[in-house]
Amino acid sequence: MTVGSGLFVTFEGGEGAGKSTQIRLLADALRQAGRPVLTTREPGGSPGAEATRHVLLSGAAQPFGTRMEAILFAAARSDHVEEVIRPALAQGTIVLCDRFLDSSRVYQGVTGNLEPPFIEALERVAINGVMPDCTIIFDLPASVGLERVRRRAATPDAQTGEEVELDRFEKEELDTHEKRREAFLDIAAADPRRCHVIDAAAQPDAIAASVLSIVEAALESHGGNGHGGSEAAQ
Ligand code: TYD
Repeated sequence: MTVGSGLFVTFEGGEGAGKSTQIRLLADALRQAGRPVLTTREPGGSPGAEATRHVLLSGAAQPFGTRMEAILFAAARSDHVEEVIRPALAQGTIVLCDRFLDSSRVYQGVTGNLEPPFIEALERVAINGVMPDCTIIFDLPASVGLERVRRRAATPDAQTGEEVELDRFEKEELDTHEKRREAFLDIAAADPRRCHVIDAAAQPDAIAASVLSIVEAALESHGGNGHGGSEAAQ
């Protein structure tokens, strides 16, 4: 079964890996080539999911436990899938999403210690058959990523002049971030057809070139403009 002719690409990895810059560069390159592109992010991406984003990233849900947080991430994902991602794919758009289900597998599943059947059940409900065609994993030593995030937080925001606060997940210990890095690499090793690992310590233009060639190859295997396979078999 297929959602439509769009291609669904997700971007994953630890903190400070440079995903958002690369998503912007890729979107520009694809648009210049005349392709329809939608960029979006999680948690968020739809009005309902954006309303949940602050609850999750501020740490407001943390006292209620990882299970509660995992359900909230899944609720946000479900809304995002049904309101934004599925309709865009049905119209033949290339959807570039900053984080998706692999973040829940890693942050809530592996480092949140939630049992796999619980995570799998939430995932099934949340994505409702909309599986990424291609996932690009930005790999970086956790110490380097955290250093980037902390430097960014110490630099006042250009518009407001305020310092940016670290979010609930960025504040966690280095060894937790290292476990996440390993968990993303494990996911990539288990699903090499979907997942591509990028060295996020490389030069930005070299990373941009690699990302573009991965996505062009994915477009090619979907029939040149993303035909097919965004809907997983149920
Ligand atoms: P954000 O500032 O949007 O993104 P990034 O770190 O990608 O620049 O923060 C999102 C945070 O939420 C990030 O620390 C990862 C976490 N997260 C989860 O724990 N589970 C999830 O399912 C998703 C989508 C994100």
